[in-house]
Amino acid sequence: MIVPKGIRDELRWFYEARFGMFVHFGLYSLLGRGEWAMYHEEIPRGTYSRLMDDFNPHLFDADAWVQLARDAGARYITATAKHHDGFCLFDSALTDFKITNTPFKRDLIGELVRACQKHGMRIILYYSQPDWHHPNYVHCPGAFKDLTHPPETDRPDWPAYQRYYIGQVEELCRNYGSIDGIWFDGSHKSVDAWQGKAVYALIKRYQPHAVVNDRARYGDFFTPERTLPEDLTGYLFESCESVSPVAWGYRRNSPSYTTPHLVRSLVKMAAAGGNYLLNVGPQPDGRIPDRQAQVMREIGAWLRVNGQAVYQTDPVRLPAPRIRKRTAGASATEPFVALAGRTGVTRGGNTIYFHCLEWPEIDRFIIPGIQSAVRQVRLLGSDQVIRFEQSDLGVELFDLPATPPNAQVQVFALLCDLAPGVTEDASVGQEAEPAVIELNARGSTTLPAHLAIQDGRAVKGSRLVVEQDNERQTTVLSGWMVPEQEAHWILMCPEDGDWQVSVYGSCPVSSEEAVVRITVQGQALSAALPDPQAAQNAGSPYPKVIAGTVRLAAGRAVLTLHPEKLVWGYVLGKIEKVQLDRA
Ligand code: GLC
Repeated sequence: MIVPKGIRDELRWFYEARFGMFVHFGLYSLLGRGEWAMYHEEIPRGTYSRLMDDFNPHLFDADAWVQLARDAGARYITATAKHHDGFCLFDSALTDFKITNTPFKRDLIGELVRACQKHGMRIILYYSQPDWHHPNYVHCPGAFKDLTHPPETDRPDWPAYQRYYIGQVEELCRNYGSIDGIWFDGSHKSVDAWQGKAVYALIKRYQPHAVVNDRARYGDFFTPERTLPEDLTGYLFESCESVSPVAWGYRRNSPSYTTPHLVRSLVKMAAAGGNYLLNVGPQPDGRIPDRQAQVMREIGAWLRVNGQAVYQTDPVRLPAPRIRKRTAGASATEPFVALAGRTGVTRGGNTIYFHCLEWPEIDRFIIPGIQSAVRQVRLLGSDQVIRFEQSDLGVELFDLPATPPNAQVQVFALLCDLAPGVTEDASVGQEAEPAVIELNARGSTTLPAHLAIQDGRAVKGSRLVVEQDNERQTTVLSGWMVPEQEAHWILMCPEDGDWQVSVYGSCPVSSEEAVVRITVQGQALSAALPDPQAAQNAGSPYPKVIAGTVRLAAGRAVLTLHPEKLVWGYVLGKIEKVQLDRA
């Protein structure tokens, strides 16, 4: 398991925080084309490094950043101490490529951490292990975030780079007093490559309550990016998004998401039990762009009214509420319809919070699933007490105002007698009944991708993906990143006997390392997936590889496939199917 499931006491502050402000700032901010400019524009390392001469965010004010986070209602700040370009915003003793060697001269991270400590704001430091500057970093050309043409003067030396990176993490944990977490960003290499477990232990040694994200492949919480997964409840997780849809670092004339959209996203994550980390990208002078600051403050205004429904709450999965339409002449007999997907529910203390992501065209609601007696219903942000009745059908709210009290998410607070008991929606998170595949004793049986039952999460909380291959009219399993990801098929074997097991698939690059392991009834087989050249020779993107023969007893069996060796330690390839032939 990459991320331990469950919430330990020392991490509780993070689970309860629900909202953080992300900050991407660095040399790239000078260019105004996002934090990947060096990579995408193939700016030579020497040219890029000369940006240091112009780096002087003279209007940077750590207190102002912290004040903005407070105004936004954020409970923590996550700020880039070093991004992929390798430039350090802290005074590292291990490199000259750092902020104290620019005209600015000051240790920005040090100032920010002190300001956070002073104002009671939590601070997490983002640290990118991928490094486009350090000569010892080993690039796998073709791998995400690695350079395709690293300078010839580089001296690739992985142990040396590991010492550098771990040394810098230690500096961050040791030199600034109390910090609240480290946020890595190298999900494209393996836990061994990053020494993820040892680094995790190192961080906790210095800062026991600090949280560590999943992108050194071992940590406390998952970090889905620019998505709002609703199926990670029970794990610690934080979904990150940027106010700018196009970049994390400063980008001139960047568009911005609207405040209602961002509030809805925050609510969706709270209702799934996760945090929302929203990014701003300061300008070259060190100030946060006005438009982004304004959006953050608008979210803060919403949270000042509705924060009790967000912070320190737990997610609740009630069955979908039902509504009656407000159409002209609607009669009392008009049927109720389910309002699925447009609401979110949390609970805190004795109160259930019912969030309406859209103000529905109705004047009455039924909220099913609340078992405790409801004493009072209020709409947060208005003085109005809502008329309601509680019956076997649920809590029915009447006479809702025709227009909502604000333009964002409306929250009904249902105050109960006791900590509310609820009937959770049993269908949430339930997979369909798995198919049982009857083995053909005379010929071949196919275990196709789309019938696989999945298990295990990879970095960012990701699952395997069932891809449609339209050209070949088939489905394939992709997104394999860790050995913990498994595909299972349930078999019914008609008789005792030997079966030959084959895998159809391939890996994306030349490699001898893409190996899958297949287990069934206590027996294990391995098969190496062919590389693209072999696939081309075979005339199929998913050539057949015979893994071996197993002896099966008549009856039910579960066949499991998972990566045994991953190319570069993190990617496997695509698997179309497993096939069993009576031997
Ligand atoms: C991606 C981007 C990176 C950004 C990060 C935030 O990994 O490569 O630029 O910092 O997302 O989650």
